[in-house]
Amino acid sequence: MSSAPDDPGSPLEELAALVADGVAEVAAVKRLDQLGELGGRLLGKRSRLSSIRAGLRDVSADERAELGAALHEARGRLEQAVEDRRRELARAETADRLARESLDLTEELGRGRIGHAHVITQTWERLEDVFVGMGFTVATGPEVETDWFNFEALNLPPSHPARSLWDTLYLRTDGLEGVDDEQLLLRTHTSPVQVRTMLRAVREGWGPPIHVVCPGRVYRRDTADATHLPVFHQIEMLVVDRHVTMADLAGTIEEFTKAYFGADLTSRLRPSYFPFTEPSAEVDISQPDGSWLEVGGCGMVHPNVLGACGLDPEEWSGFAFGFGIDRLAKIRHGIGDLREFVSNDVRFLEQL
Ligand code: DAH
Repeated sequence: MSSAPDDPGSPLEELAALVADGVAEVAAVKRLDQLGELGGRLLGKRSRLSSIRAGLRDVSADERAELGAALHEARGRLEQAVEDRRRELARAETADRLARESLDLTEELGRGRIGHAHVITQTWERLEDVFVGMGFTVATGPEVETDWFNFEALNLPPSHPARSLWDTLYLRTDGLEGVDDEQLLLRTHTSPVQVRTMLRAVREGWGPPIHVVCPGRVYRRDTADATHLPVFHQIEMLVVDRHVTMADLAGTIEEFTKAYFGADLTSRLRPSYFPFTEPSAEVDISQPDGSWLEVGGCGMVHPNVLGACGLDPEEWSGFAFGFGIDRLAKIRHGIGDLREFVSNDVRFLEQL
């Protein structure tokens, strides 16, 4: 058995020192590649451990049993130390790599930029609040509609010329059993929610009277320009009761105008045409500079619409209006071009 340069004492003492030093060295290693190297040096063929093992054949049988057991234990402890350290370093390296590769998503917050609801969402919610404050409830309907809800029940039969007023986006339905092409579409207005609400009220037996507002997204085959977007938003109002009149409609619109825009603004109705109302009117709202701005349409619900929804027009009457939410936001915030709403320019969005 070869001896170490500074007298290592008995082989058992030397083994104890080898383990103590080895464990300390392993604990001090900082990188996985260095640990591999050290492991080889402590446990490999040319390690001191191996040469002590090779010396076993030169010792007496008694000593051999004792030394053999000590060797076995020493190897075990060193292997365990290397394995434990390997795990620690691997975990630390993974954590380190994740930390380096992660994006700091709080960076923007740190600079004081906090997100908020889009101006259209804010307008939508404010409008809902105003109407709920006036005693209305909110009703919704699907964006993919059938021809019947979007047109036919609203007194627009297939041949009706007013259909060209709504540039409709139809959905291809090939493969959908029982549905023909030109029957499924993206709703062109929120008026089909009127129909759905009246039908539901009758079916479920809770109305009329009906007082609902129906906000939602609508679609038209339009190219985006300063005053049109192919996807935009409307809010529809519907009242059905006994003996309601055009004066109730005008009064409701005026009350809404003051609640939403302020007491100094006023509304007016101009005669117009919509297939689902008779009589019909355009709604204008006065501007601070004295001009008038058109915000939507309204009228007394047409008897054919009430009839399609299972209501007797001799007993019930109703009024309705539909406003463009985007247009209301445009007026309220003095925005020049509707496309600003969808261009995602932070400088624009931050102001509102
Ligand atoms: N649906 C119409 C449109 O999109 C707007 C409208 C007009 C709605 C008159 C109404 C109404 O409820 O009575 O152009």
